[in-house]
Amino acid sequence: MSLTVRTIAESEWSTYSDVLYEAFNSSYPPELRERWRELTEFDRTIAAFDGDLAVGGAQILSFSMTVPGGPIPVAGVTSVGVLPSHRRRGVLTALMTRQLHDLHEGRGEAVAALYASEAGIYGRFGYGRAADALSFRIPTHRSAFTRSAPTDPALRLRVADPAKSLAGLARVYDSVRPARPGLYARSEAYWRAEILPDTEHDRGGMGPLRCLIAEDAAGPRGYALFRVRAGWDEHVVPDGEVRLLELFACDPAAYALVWRGVLDRDLCAVVHAGRRPVDDPITHLLAEPRQLNAVWVDDLWIRLVDVDRALAARAYAAPADLVIEVEDELCPWNAGRWRLKAAGGQAWCGRGDAPADLTLPVGVLGAAYLGGRPLRAAADAGLVREHRDGALRELSAAMAWDPAPWGCRVF
Ligand SMILES: CC(C)(COP(=O)(O)OP(=O)(O)OC[C@H]1O[C@@H](n2cnc3c(N)ncnc32)[C@H](O)[C@@H]1OP(=O)(O)O)[C@@H](O)C(=O)NCCC(=O)NCCS
Repeated sequence: MSLTVRTIAESEWSTYSDVLYEAFNSSYPPELRERWRELTEFDRTIAAFDGDLAVGGAQILSFSMTVPGGPIPVAGVTSVGVLPSHRRRGVLTALMTRQLHDLHEGRGEAVAALYASEAGIYGRFGYGRAADALSFRIPTHRSAFTRSAPTDPALRLRVADPAKSLAGLARVYDSVRPARPGLYARSEAYWRAEILPDTEHDRGGMGPLRCLIAEDAAGPRGYALFRVRAGWDEHVVPDGEVRLLELFACDPAAYALVWRGVLDRDLCAVVHAGRRPVDDPITHLLAEPRQLNAVWVDDLWIRLVDVDRALAARAYAAPADLVIEVEDELCPWNAGRWRLKAAGGQAWCGRGDAPADLTLPVGVLGAAYLGGRPLRAAADAGLVREHRDGALRELSAAMAWDPAPWGCRVF
């Protein structure tokens, strides 16, 4: 195999997308292929060729993603796939290496993020599992709230047409986004291509996209997007299923009301809420929290492309001044000792000559970057070596963040 990796031209889109569809065992209708093409940044889309044959590809979407302290530019890695005929021959390795080197050499984003189709793929490329999510399966008849659940008489629920509600939904989403690490800005094109589409393919056997909005006289304060599969069991008992796609609210009362609207859906026996944040307030609101039937999944994976720029770009929850020795085979410019100083809302990171206080692989730093996966736990797993007493506690406390990271929707 003679492998070359290069960006693709717009005219090569059809060939490129065929490779990805084959890799993902999918066959999307032309409309979906077009939606995908519209979001594609061709100068950030690379393909691997075996001679003339396209055998793999990977894309970057230019995101503004919240990290502790606020939004920064982040490279959103997506649409990664290799033809089944060429798997396990180093094509993905070539694509990942090229992406990271391009980002570094072009002074692109200091941080890359992705969702993994399988959790075992990206650790070897220096990505760390930076966010987790919870998937809930809530029986509607056991979904009562605690008596302290907040209410606001000014609020009412409205059934809305999702496609016509974009401005209101975006207003709510954008009010939450800057504080929650992992959430990324959605352009209007992104809302229309990724969040609001409602073809048979998007429905995947469920009903149409539905929307509930909680609002007062000033406008929307919360919303839920969901689908329902209507049904009755063999005893003609209604056993419809709600699939919650996303739910955001600006304040506790709106949040509780939107959830109530979803859980009280008539003729439905269960609500499936996939990929909720691990600190979702619903875990406090439900009178019987065991009825959440929560399952953990990995959410965002983070790769520090340039350790110094990435560490200087986020905020820290506590002061820190230490030298970190980073191990990074794939991106050797990151390897070695870095001094991190964080105090009074300012952070600085640069080369350090002093003896290292801690040694860790770059993936462990990536996992801690969004503040949701404590370094202390990674150290307990044997992934961090502490050379100065207290250094682990210092860095772990500084990198922790509240609220927990969460990307919400897979990109
Ligand atoms: C996952 C995929 C991209 C891997 O591509 P590939 O070209 O076979 O990967 P490489 O040959 O470069 O493998 C590099 C290493 O990763 C390992 N690896 C590859 N895929 C893996 C997986 N799914 N799980 C665990 N390890 C994996 C390989 O075994 C290899 O390990 P080694 O270096 O110890 O030998 C390819 O199998 C694919 O397209 N899968 C279906 C689509 C998909 O899941 N894409 C990822 C989207 S997030």
